[in-house]
Amino acid sequence: MSEARGRFLTFEGIDGAGKSSQIAAVVEHLRGRGLSVVQSREPGGTPLGEKLRELLLHEAMNLETEAMLMFAARREHLAALIEPALAAGQWVVSDRFSDATYAYQVGGRGLDAAKFDALEQWVHPRLQPDLTFLFDLDPATAAARLAGTGQAPDRFEREQRSFFERVRNAYLERARRAPSRILVIDASGAPEAIREQVLAALQRLPA
Ligand code: TYD
Repeated sequence: MSEARGRFLTFEGIDGAGKSSQIAAVVEHLRGRGLSVVQSREPGGTPLGEKLRELLLHEAMNLETEAMLMFAARREHLAALIEPALAAGQWVVSDRFSDATYAYQVGGRGLDAAKFDALEQWVHPRLQPDLTFLFDLDPATAAARLAGTGQAPDRFEREQRSFFERVRNAYLERARRAPSRILVIDASGAPEAIREQVLAALQRLPA
């Protein structure tokens, strides 16, 4: 029996913007609607991708190496998990995707945008998420939230405030260029209010 193609949802934002708890709520909500949902993350999502994640989060490296490894992990994620799941009618919910490479490597670190475009064209020339939630928060508030978790910061989380300002601005710029795909959510509000906005947007997704 052929099934309808599934939907691809992604969550984005600077570190500490609070996407994790919202992802859990969305997955629970969709499963409650009887949908088959695959929850994943980037970098990661596959055994090889998780090994690359370890390197990316903890090993110093050249910026272009970093961008290519992000896309290498993504190519594996698409081939092994995202594309088969969508083809089988499942919904895929990913904590980050290519918008993160644009925001962090192009915006945050200064990668040439043309190189990002070339990698994106190579790795997923046609596919984009059906809907992306961008959790927007000022970096000072995000840093305070991260400090409150008590977890040891990774290579990205140790970056300066100015880095996260650039990442935030690059995310917002990308959202302005794809307004029908990327929904900007004010992440400074109460978690319950944010959850309502997220669930309302899901209801609006065309069937
Ligand atoms: P994150 O998704 O925030 O996971 P956790 O909540 O477990 O810390 O961490 C992944 C980090 O990788 C985050 O700081 C953003 C960074 N990143 C990039 O720089 N580029 C990318 O393309 C992706 C997917 C992530």
